[in-house]
Amino acid sequence: MVHLGVTAVLATLVTAVSAAKVPFNWNNIRYFYVFGDSYSYVQGTEGLADFSFIGDAFNLSYTPEQLLSNEIEYRYTAGNGANWPEFLTECFAGLPSNCPRQLWDFAFAGADIDPNLLPLHHNFSIQLTTEVSQFLTYAAAVLPHTPGETMTAWWIGINDTGDTLNNATITNFTDFWETEMASYFNAVQQAHTTLASTHLFLTVPPTDRSPSHLPATSPTSQTLNSHILLFNSILRKRAGAFALANPDSTVLVFDAHETFTQILDNYQAYGFNNITGYCECDDNSYFWYNTGHPTERVHEYLAAALEGFLLESSTWHREIGMKRRYKEAK
Ligand SMILES: *[C@@H]1O[C@H](CO)[C@@H](O)[C@H](O)[C@H]1NC(C)=O
Ligand SMILES: *[C@@H]1O[C@H](CO)[C@@H](O)[C@H](O)[C@H]1NC(C)=O
Ligand SMILES: *[C@@H]1O[C@H](CO)[C@@H](O)[C@H](O)[C@H]1NC(C)=O
Ligand SMILES: *[C@@H]1O[C@H](CO)[C@@H](O)[C@H](O)[C@H]1NC(C)=O
Ligand SMILES: *[C@@H]1O[C@H](CO)[C@@H](O)[C@H](O)[C@H]1NC(C)=O
Ligand SMILES: *[C@@H]1O[C@H](CO)[C@@H](O)[C@H](O)[C@H]1NC(C)=O
Repeated sequence: MVHLGVTAVLATLVTAVSAAKVPFNWNNIRYFYVFGDSYSYVQGTEGLADFSFIGDAFNLSYTPEQLLSNEIEYRYTAGNGANWPEFLTECFAGLPSNCPRQLWDFAFAGADIDPNLLPLHHNFSIQLTTEVSQFLTYAAAVLPHTPGETMTAWWIGINDTGDTLNNATITNFTDFWETEMASYFNAVQQAHTTLASTHLFLTVPPTDRSPSHLPATSPTSQTLNSHILLFNSILRKRAGAFALANPDSTVLVFDAHETFTQILDNYQAYGFNNITGYCECDDNSYFWYNTGHPTERVHEYLAAALEGFLLESSTWHREIGMKRRYKEAK
């Protein structure tokens, strides 16, 4: 019995030591991994045109050589310009490994969370759970992920909330989003065991204010609005639960919904003059590039807001803030 007790204490200690958290500091991050949909995907020379950095459902596998020689194509995204992961990392084109902050972007345009829960948009589509299993199988061992220098970003749910808007078989959306989140966070957990201990989650933006759903007074826009708010509140709850269950992780939730809302509500101050229509052209005075995707300028603002958030969330910043407050208190 005594032996068992000692073993148990040692085991607890070992767990506690191995669970020691590497402090998050945005300035130290060199490897930025992304999983998500068209709002986040970048085009790769080895990818499916208009959909991915690398591979598709018919072509899941790739070699280390293909991955490492794969180049990001400049301004080739869903918004006809650079997008938020590119602005945030300043990795806009070429080999990710040549960027000071490497962008490894496995988002796939049109992705939902799980092929077992919602149908694929196309037979070649890759959903989030598949993005992660594909990454773990073909990329994880090849790409760098030094602790403290690595983080993952997750932005998913835009297509899920849109695709289910008129799905009559879903009678309880709390239940449905919980089921989707179980699948979502199962994928995060799988990535967590291999990848970074820092995970950034973005909330679903107000696509009820996109040209496909306007006017805002329409029933579909209002239903989508309430579905998105519910999705986001369950996302926050699940992210909190994930952080509690993984004490070695740093979990950050960025409210992209709030950023979009702030810009849309004050659009002229941000240099936009049209937030209801769209222009599939090179005109950043439009908020929307097409019926469902924002323009490059929106991505640039989003990245700037995110960078501020990541710096504020960095350990050195918190320490300086605490020291400053301590000094002020004296
Ligand atoms: C599969 O994808 C790789 C890049 O990942 C590409 O080189 C190859 O041509 C693709 N094959 C087919 C059949 O699409
Ligand atoms: C989901 O993704 C597809 C492919 O990118 C896009 O065409 C579609 O408009 C998206 N749906 C929503 C609701 O955003
Ligand atoms: C995928 O879908 C396209 C059109 O929707 C079809 O032409 C093609 O045969 C399908 N491919 C396979 C392998 O099922
Ligand atoms: C509607 O949702 C159910 C899940 O409850 C899913 O199985 C089904 O494929 C969805 N239908 C469409 C058209 O997306
Ligand atoms: C919907 O599902 C949730 C979670 O399972 C449950 O708490 C709630 O009572 C359900 N709502 C209705 C109207 O059945
Ligand atoms: C916004 O753009 C659309 C499409 O070009 C146009 O029809 C609409 O009149 C514009 N709205 C405003 C307020 O300028």
